[in-house]
Amino acid sequence: MKLIILDHYSQASEWAAKYIRNRIIQFNPGPDKYFTLGLPTGAGSRRVFMAVASLTGSTPIGCYKKLIEYCKNGDLSFRYVKTFNMDEYVGLPRDHPESYHSFMWNNFFKHIDILPENTHILDGNAPDLQAECDAFEAKIKAAGGIELFVGGIGPDGHIAFNEPGSSLVSRTRVKTLAMDTILANARFFDGDLTKVPTMALTVGVGTLMDAREVMILITGAHKAFALYKAIEEGVSHMWTVSAFQQHPRTVFVCDEDATLELKVKTVKYFKGLMLVHNKLVDPLYSIKEKETEKNQSSEKPYGD
Ligand code: GLP
Repeated sequence: MKLIILDHYSQASEWAAKYIRNRIIQFNPGPDKYFTLGLPTGAGSRRVFMAVASLTGSTPIGCYKKLIEYCKNGDLSFRYVKTFNMDEYVGLPRDHPESYHSFMWNNFFKHIDILPENTHILDGNAPDLQAECDAFEAKIKAAGGIELFVGGIGPDGHIAFNEPGSSLVSRTRVKTLAMDTILANARFFDGDLTKVPTMALTVGVGTLMDAREVMILITGAHKAFALYKAIEEGVSHMWTVSAFQQHPRTVFVCDEDATLELKVKTVKYFKGLMLVHNKLVDPLYSIKEKETEKNQSSEKPYGD
């Protein structure tokens, strides 16, 4: 496991975006070789605006903003990337501002060059919800599995919507939301508990464990206890994010605030490794260089 500790939310977001950028470019995706990326949403799209202003809030937004910037500058392309989102509410219309379809479209997909048919989000309005979940698993398999799953967590240590007590070998399924999650999300539904969906479709912990690599973004003091449970205590289904202790390739990216419950010793140890870990994002690759390289290698050294 790697634990990357940056000072603030913005630096953590940028580090994560750089990491994703390098992973995609190094993979060298093309028409016969798509990069499969698992993606997180956040607890509410309206937090987007708070996130920008106060640098807190819906965790992946900062990372998405950076990826959009790279794409617009021509340094990164999502043309040969397939995405799979982790979860979606049940029964919320797709165009509802709080649906994860809206979240992903408004905060990410509409700003990048990904083809809509390569984005996959569970349909929480499908007539047969379990069939929808099974089909999602099949689509992941057909795409060759997930290369990199990027996720966020809830303050109770849930990953996707795998609430406390979820099986650590679970697959994509319908899940009843914990009261803590409903209460936490009520602010995105006019503070009205009755408007918050009580069920969701979510990939399972087992689905996430199958990804070849997992990156978890954890920022803010309200997630500090969950980070402690994730990495300093044992694996427990009551803190589903702790399952990644048994994943061969996990990177946690967090800010200082999220480390508040960790031992000083743990924090010092991982900060001491930052020089090494920063080599994952420095040098930062660009598809512009790849293009130049390609053109140069196709140029004949001497004219005919
Ligand atoms: C919801 C989502 C999770 C997400 C969590 C944290 O519960 N189902 O996938 O990780 O919110 O959201 P935020 O990053 O906004 O705190």
